[in-house]
Amino acid sequence: MAISSYGKAKPLLRAMRGETLARPPWWLMRQAGRYLPEYRAIRAKAADFITLCLTPELAAEVTLQPVRRFNMDAAILFSDILLVPRALGQRLSFEHDGPKLAPIVSAGELSPLDLGMLEPVGAAIRRVRPALPDDVTLIGFAGAPWTVATYMAEGGTSRDFVRAKAWAYRDPHGFGALIDVISDATLAFLTLQIEAGVEAVQLFDSWAGALSPEGFERWVVRPTASIVSTLKTRFPHVPVVGFPRGAGFCYERYATVTGVDAISIDTAVPSADARDRLQGKLTVQGNLDPVLLLAGGAALKRGVRELRATLGGGPYVFNLGHGILPETPPEHVAELAQILAEPLH
Ligand code: CP3
Repeated sequence: MAISSYGKAKPLLRAMRGETLARPPWWLMRQAGRYLPEYRAIRAKAADFITLCLTPELAAEVTLQPVRRFNMDAAILFSDILLVPRALGQRLSFEHDGPKLAPIVSAGELSPLDLGMLEPVGAAIRRVRPALPDDVTLIGFAGAPWTVATYMAEGGTSRDFVRAKAWAYRDPHGFGALIDVISDATLAFLTLQIEAGVEAVQLFDSWAGALSPEGFERWVVRPTASIVSTLKTRFPHVPVVGFPRGAGFCYERYATVTGVDAISIDTAVPSADARDRLQGKLTVQGNLDPVLLLAGGAALKRGVRELRATLGGGPYVFNLGHGILPETPPEHVAELAQILAEPLH
C-alpha cells in the first residue's frame, strides 16, 4: 500500500489515501440526528426536515453538533440523498414513517436538474468548513444511482423493491435512462459540494443488497465506476468512499472495479474477510453493529477492540456497519470515543 506524502494532512484523509495510522480515525454514519437532544431541539424549530436540510445556518449547526460533543475525525454534511430526485422535479415529503415521493414509471416524467435547488447545500458547506477544527475532515455525500432510483420508482422505502426491480428486468433500456439521469445529477451535486469545500465524498448504496449479481453489476458497479471516473478527472485528490450495503460476496467485485478509494462494509461482512480480501486493494471503513453501540457496556468495548485488532493493521477508518440508531444513548458514543483513544496492546 502506498505511503502517503500528505504528512500534515488530516488523519481521515491520510487513512482514506491508504495510510495505516496507529489510531484509526473515526466518524459515524448518521452521526447528526435524532439521538442527540440538541438535534431534536433544532429540528423542532424548522418547519420540516427538507427546510432543515436547505436552511444553511441550521444545516451547518446540525453538522457541527456531533463533532463538538465527541471530537470525531470527520463531520458529515447534514443533508439527504433524496434532495436529488426533488431537484429533478419529483415531489418529496418526509412523513413520520419515512420519505414519500410521487413514484415515476419513466425518466421522461422528470425535469432537467435544477441545481439552484441544491445551492443551499453549498452555502451550508461554506459555513461549516471554517468552523471545523484543523484536523477534522468535512465529508459530503450522495445516494448512488441504484438506491436513489429505488426511492423514485417505489415512492418511498420498500421491503422487496418489486417496482424498481421489475422495471429494470422488463425495460432495462428505460431503467438505464433513469440511472443515467440520476448519475449526471449525482455528479453535478457532488461537484457542487466539492467546490463548496467538502474534502471527501461517500456514495450511499443502501439497497445494493437487493439486486441479483447481474443486476449488481449493471445498476451498482457500472454507474458507480462511471461517477468515480469522472470525479477523479475533476478532483483527483478528493477520496471517494463507496458503501454498497448488503453486497455480500459482491463486495470484492465492487472494490476491484469501481475505482473508489475506500469501501464501507456493512455489519454482516466478517472483518477478517475484509482484511484478507479488500484491505490490500483499498481502505476499509466500518463495521460495528449499530445495535452494539446502542447496547453499550462490556460488549461494546470488546467489539471495538476486536475490530481494531483485525483491521487496524492496514488502512482503516472506524465506523458503524450502518447508520446510528435514534435510540442510541449519546453517552455510548462518548464511551466509544474513549475506547478508540486507548492505545492498542
Ligand atoms: O450521516 C449524517 O449524519 C448526515 C445526514 C444524513 C441524513 N440522511 C439525514 C437524515 C445522511 C448521510 C443521510 C443519507 C440517507 N438518506 C440514506 C443513506 C444512508 C442510509 O441510512 O442507508 C437514505 C436511504 C436516506 C433517505 C432517508 N432520509 C430515509 C429513508 C429517511 C427516513 C428514515 C429515518 O432515518 O428517519 C430519511 C430522513 C433523515 N435523513 C433523517 C435524518 C437525520 C431523520 C429525519 C428527521 O430528523 O425527522
